[in-house]
Amino acid sequence: MAALTQRLFFALWPDEPARAMIAGLAREVAPESGGRPTALNHIHLTLAFVGEQPAIRVDSLRRLAGVVRARAFMLALDEIGGFRRAGIAWLGASTAQPGLTALHDDLAHALQSRGFPVDQRPYAPHLTLARRSTTVIDRRLSQPIRWRVNSFTLMASELAPSGPGYRTIAEWPLVAA
Ligand code: 2AM
Repeated sequence: MAALTQRLFFALWPDEPARAMIAGLAREVAPESGGRPTALNHIHLTLAFVGEQPAIRVDSLRRLAGVVRARAFMLALDEIGGFRRAGIAWLGASTAQPGLTALHDDLAHALQSRGFPVDQRPYAPHLTLARRSTTVIDRRLSQPIRWRVNSFTLMASELAPSGPGYRTIAEWPLVAA
C-alpha cells in the first residue's frame, strides 16, 4: 500500500562529470571533517525542502512546479564549509549564483502561494559532502565544480530495507537560455 505521507523536496542533480568530481571531493573531505561521505548516487542540491506531506498533495506540487519558468544556468560551486550543529560538511558557492537564486525564488513563491511551508531563513544553497562531521572545514577550491542546470526534480526521501534513499517523482526542464 502506498504511504499516506511522504517526505518531499525539490532538488538539482549534477551531471555525470560533476557528480564524479563531487564524489571524489566527498571522499577527501569526509575523513578531514570526521564524517561519512555522501554516496555517489545521493549527491544533490536541495532547492526547497517541503517536508512530510499527505500523498494527495503531490498533484498540487506537480502543478505548481510545472508553471515555474526559470532559465537554465551554469552553476559554479567552489566553497567547502560546514554546519556545525547538523554535523554536515558541504560544497557551496563563494559568489552569487543568480540563476540558482531566480529558480529558488520562483519555486518558493509558487510553494508559498499554494500553502506549502517555505523556510523563511535566507536560502543557503549547499550540497552535502559528509554527514556526522565533527570538524568544520573551511576552504576554497582552486577551480569551481561547474555544471549546466537544465532541469529540477521533485524527490521523495524514503527509508528502504537497504537504507535511506531518494526517489524521483517528476522532473521539469528549465527554459533554454
Ligand atoms: P541536508 O543535505 O543539509 O541534510 C533530503 O533530506 C534533502 O532535504 C537533503 O538535501 C536535506 O539537506 C534537506 N533537508 C532535510 N531536512 C531539511 C530541513 N528541515 N530544512 C531544509 N532542508 C532539509
